[in-house]
Amino acid sequence: MVRVITYGTFDLLHYGHINLLRRAKEQGDYLIVVLSTDEFNWNMKQKKCYFPYEQRKQLLEAIRYVDLVIPENNWEQKRSDVHEYHVDKFVMGDDWKGKFDFLEEEGVEVVYLPRTPEISTTAIKKDLAEKDKK
Ligand code: CTP
Repeated sequence: MVRVITYGTFDLLHYGHINLLRRAKEQGDYLIVVLSTDEFNWNMKQKKCYFPYEQRKQLLEAIRYVDLVIPENNWEQKRSDVHEYHVDKFVMGDDWKGKFDFLEEEGVEVVYLPRTPEISTTAIKKDLAEKDKK
C-alpha cells in the first residue's frame, strides 16, 4: 500500500485541482489531502478563501481520488504528518518545485507534477471581478 500526501487550499475547486488529485492518486494507492484552514490561509498567505474550510473539505471528500482530508494549520507540520500518516510519497504541483525536498530526509519520495496551464483560483476570482465591472 503506497500512501501519498498532498497539500493545498483548493478554493473554488477547478479542473487544475482535479488533474492534480488524479495524478497524485496514480502515484500510489491511498491519497491524503492536507487542506489549509481559513486561518492558515489568512495569517500565512494573506489569502481569503471564498469557500470556508468545511465546504472545501466536503468538495474534496466527494472526489473519488481522495481518501482522507485533514487540516493544514502551519508550515512545520509536514515533517510530522509524513510519519503520523505513514506516507511514502509527497506530491505537489511544480509551482512548489524544490521547496519541499527536505522531506527526503524523512524517508519520503518528493514528486512535483506539472501544473495544468492557465487555470487557477486567483485567475477565476480576477476574471469574475472584471466581468462584474462590464
Ligand atoms: N494546481 C495545479 N494546476 C493548476 C492549479 C493548481 O496542478 N492549474 C495544483 C497546485 O500546484 C497545488 C494544488 O493544485 O499542488 C493546490 O493548489 P492551490 O494553490 O490550492 O490552487 P491554485 O488554483 O493555484 O490557487 P491560487 O491561485 O490561490 O494559488
